[in-house]
Amino acid sequence: MTTHKFVSTTRITVGAGVKAYEVTVGRSLAGAIVSAVPAHVLRVLVVYQEPVEQLARELTMALESDGRKAFRVAIPDAEQAKGIDTLAELWRVLGTNDFTRSDLIIGVGGGAATDLAGFAAATWLRGIDVIHVPTTVAGMVDAAVGGKTGINTAEGKNLVGAFHEPLAVFADLDALDALPAHDVSAGLAEVVKAGFIADERILEIIEHEPRRVRNTRTPEFEEIMTRAIRIKADVVSDDLTEKGRREILNYGHTLGHAIERHEQYTWRHGDAVAVGMVFAAELSHRTGHLSLGLLERHRSILESLSLPTCYREGQFGALREAMARDKKARGEMLRFVILEAVGTPIRLEGPEEQLLEESYRAIAA
Ligand SMILES: NC(=O)c1ccc[n+]([C@@H]2O[C@H](COP(=O)([O-])OP(=O)(O)OC[C@H]3O[C@@H](n4cnc5c(N)ncnc54)[C@H](O)[C@@H]3O)[C@@H](O)[C@H]2O)c1
Repeated sequence: MTTHKFVSTTRITVGAGVKAYEVTVGRSLAGAIVSAVPAHVLRVLVVYQEPVEQLARELTMALESDGRKAFRVAIPDAEQAKGIDTLAELWRVLGTNDFTRSDLIIGVGGGAATDLAGFAAATWLRGIDVIHVPTTVAGMVDAAVGGKTGINTAEGKNLVGAFHEPLAVFADLDALDALPAHDVSAGLAEVVKAGFIADERILEIIEHEPRRVRNTRTPEFEEIMTRAIRIKADVVSDDLTEKGRREILNYGHTLGHAIERHEQYTWRHGDAVAVGMVFAAELSHRTGHLSLGLLERHRSILESLSLPTCYREGQFGALREAMARDKKARGEMLRFVILEAVGTPIRLEGPEEQLLEESYRAIAA
């Protein structure tokens, strides 16, 4: 395999003051991760998913050489990990190994791993430090940045959780080498979203190099990842507890979440968000906000990444109902983030039912 050196390691600050932390984007970051563990930490629990066992091993060995007691726990795959049973297992390991408030957890894996590790850290002794090492595209540009942690219950996804800012985040792009192509492109849906809501350069790079941006070893991929992480960091820094500006990150997510629920979570999140963005763009256009050209730009960019842009016919009723149950809906009123232009998202509340149906018909195939 040919490799190229990452031009530079980029550090992006999230938040301000004592709670500020850095997201480091680069390659071969294991040494930097170990160096970020504060000197007072005696015990470290590394929580990881099976596909990234090698990295978890490397980290625990390096931590041991650094004089810490390191423990490693593999968690079940994907959403199965985000349940109370896995959490209880982590609490058991923390308890039997005498983890104190000055010890630390490292979450290594996709968003499911960092959400779970973060929630274990938020709850153990009312909060210990956590370092996130996201190893999926979605984890790097979304889940690991912003301090939201949580688990699922029988009633739904992410219903139990806490805001718990990490001590640091390390997006080591080398970890993506074994990530299946479909997971890379699904993760890129969130990168495209960052482009539409805040950074046109991301869209231009994808339009110029649609194949190279899907190869995680190219400078084009590195650039759009770094830009998307910066957007997420900027937005959450303005709104650490999701009371205002952070809402713009929800572009494409109102319908996207409804599709995920309607498909019983068999769709990848990014695929659902891709369809959701086209729906939101249709709604933006039909409410007189977005030009036809920008609407079509959504379809062409997403299609160039092999992301879906339409959904099965005849499902409007079920999706409408699922949207009303979204945890971000307020009472009966549906809320959408729509676009006026690239970089200008606005809120749309309670759109006319007819416009919703027309927008759905425009994405139905
Ligand atoms: N906290 C937040 O703000 C936030 C934001 C968005 C999503 N999320 C959560 O993130 C989760 C989705 O994240 P995800 O898409 O990363 O899914 P995931 O964590 O389920 O990972 C997807 C799959 O990739 C595997 N994997 C992980 N790293 C790999 C690698 N380097 N190579 C090969 N395979 C690898 C995992 O084992 C899993 O099978 C959801 O639970 C969602 O609720 C949280």
